[in-house]
Parts: sequence; C-alpha cells; structure tokens
Amino acid sequence: MIDRWLEDLVATPGLTSVPREDARRVHVDESLAALEVVRGFDGPIVDVGSGGGAPGIPLACALPERQVTLLEATRRKCDFLERWARELPNVRVVCGRAEEQPVDAYGVAVAKALASPPVAAEWCLPLVVAGGAVVLYVGPSAEAEAVAQVAERLASALVESPAGLLVLRKLGATPMGFPRRVGVARKRPLA
Ligand SMILES: C[S@@+](CC[C@H](N)C(=O)[O-])C[C@H]1O[C@@H](n2cnc3c(N)ncnc32)[C@H](O)[C@@H]1O
Repeated sequence: MIDRWLEDLVATPGLTSVPREDARRVHVDESLAALEVVRGFDGPIVDVGSGGGAPGIPLACALPERQVTLLEATRRKCDFLERWARELPNVRVVCGRAEEQPVDAYGVAVAKALASPPVAAEWCLPLVVAGGAVVLYVGPSAEAEAVAQVAERLASALVESPAGLLVLRKLGATPMGFPRRVGVARKRPLA
C-alpha cells in the first residue's frame, strides 16, 4: 500500500519536487520519525498541509487504530488525497485552511514543510485539545526559541523533542482571538 502510494505521489505532476531516488527517505522514513511521539498522545490525528499525504498517510498505515485527517488547502491535492483515503479506512480528507477549522478538536496535529516553524505552530496549535500536542517536522532549521514564544501565546509549551522535531504540548483551551484571520500569521508573525 505504502509502495503504491509513493509510486503515485512521485508520478503525479505538481505534488512533490523530491527526486524519485530520495522519495522513500523523505516521504516515508522522515514521516515515521515522529511515530513514537504521536503514539504518546491519544485522540484523532490531523496532518496540516498534507500535500501529497506526508506525514499523514505513513502515520495512518503505522497506526491503523487511530483516525487520521489529512487537512489540505489546495483542491487539486485534495483530489489526490481523496483517492488514497478510499483505500484507508482510518483516513479522511478535509479540504480547507487550518485557520478556518473548528478548534480544540484533535489529539495531535503534525505538520511537515507547511510554513516557517513559528507560523506552522500558530496554525496547528488551535486545532488540538488541552493535553494534546503539535509535532512540527523542522529538520535542522528549528527556530526553537521563536516557536516557544508562539506556544506560550497559545496556552502551550515547547517540550523536550527528538532531533528534527519540535513537540508543543497544549496546556489549556485555545485563547480568545485565535486562530487569527487567514493571512495574518504570515504577515504579522507572533515571534
Ligand atoms: C510544501 S507542501 C508540504 C506537503 C507535505 N506535508 C510534505 O511534506 O510533502 C505545504 C502544503 O501545505 C498546504 N497549506 C499551506 N498553507 C495551508 C493552510 N493554512 N492550511 C492548510 N494547508 C495549507 C499547501 O497547499 C501545500 O500543499
């Protein structure tokens, strides 16, 4: 199943710029680097800015008992994701922007290559319940200090994180005023 998805992902124009020879490492192995962290938090999972389905599809295959939502703003990418969601009983697709979704709804939000880490944190934190977590795949460009400042504004805290990830623990309900309107997080970043 993962092999067929990966083949379709690299063969479909406009979904990934990663060369075929690197696709498994980037889309599958890197996605699964957060598996144990995600397993540590209960509740439904949302992959924010899922694109062609990473990290949501590899995580959904590894955690078949968990409900996984692939949230994606671009209709063409949603069409691709919806085809694959039909093959995975624990996966659904929501076509829309993170800033326009119901808040405090998921146990875990994951995001890979969504936006700069502070903006990704601001978009993802409202989506998760108190006690849940956001897991950002950041690679070497962590911007940990700025992300910690954003987390504080959103009733959350940056906690100890494995290399390449930033894990934000949501401590309370989403404060009034968040999420900010579409476009504001990028135009006027919190940190
Ligand atoms: C660079 S792609 C990364 C895709 C995938 N996560 C990956 O690692 O291959 C970023 C994706 O996020 C989507 N996106 C950007 N802003 C978004 C938002 N506010 N809400 C939902 N999706 C968003 C874009 O349409 C795009 O498909």
